[in-house]
Amino acid sequence: MSSSFVIAIDGPAGTGKSTVARRVAQALHAGYLDTGAMYRIVTLAVLRAGVDPVDDAAVAAVLPALTFESPTTADRQEHVLDGDRVTSEIRGSAVTLAVTPVSANPAVRSFLLDRQRRLARSGRMVVEGRDIGTVVVPDADLKIYLTADATERARRRHRQNAALVGAGTGEVGLDLAAVATDLHRRDSKDSSRTHAPLQAAADAVVVDSSELAVEETVARVLALAADRGIRA
Ligand code: DC
Repeated sequence: MSSSFVIAIDGPAGTGKSTVARRVAQALHAGYLDTGAMYRIVTLAVLRAGVDPVDDAAVAAVLPALTFESPTTADRQEHVLDGDRVTSEIRGSAVTLAVTPVSANPAVRSFLLDRQRRLARSGRMVVEGRDIGTVVVPDADLKIYLTADATERARRRHRQNAALVGAGTGEVGLDLAAVATDLHRRDSKDSSRTHAPLQAAADAVVVDSSELAVEETVARVLALAADRGIRA
């Protein structure tokens, strides 16, 4: 088995990034780091503290007392905030709405950056997010920028929302148009923010998953990894 590596997978919401990243990690017997979940956990802490997510100074003041971890079991990653399991809650619409300003806050980004870098460099790792190839691990062994057309991405997120509603999480069902509007809002804000905007690294391989099944996308990433000497 080869030694340490980092595969960075960046891209907008709804491309199937998390599923692909998780399966690539499994296939390579590697760890998986979901940096979006970290921004979501911080956002939940901000909401629980009763702080306005757009008030940068008040949000920064929440950070020092924050304790969270993301333990991984054989088939699942849990997220724990101040001892409370929040795995489903961080995917809900309250957090999804508020995560955009919180993740644009430079204090939040620098708070998470050290932790992300340390975890990313802890061995064989697949790391997903928006700025992994550009900021977090600019020397990653392989950088993938995963895209898909906007209609297909909205369809995928709509299915995820329906699954949360069906799982009895208390989540409100959204129609496809509302999901599409929210995705567009989030992507354009993520892409235009000052700090670590969503963009493909110059040396990233762009993979368009619009017409690809998950297994096909995974196979493409694994083939690109093998080209770089990364194998299970
Ligand atoms: O991947 P996700 O939808 O769970 O990410 C939630 C939000 O976090 C997303 O709107 C942008 C932000 N994010 C970020 O700014 N940088 C990252 N590396 C990962 C996510």
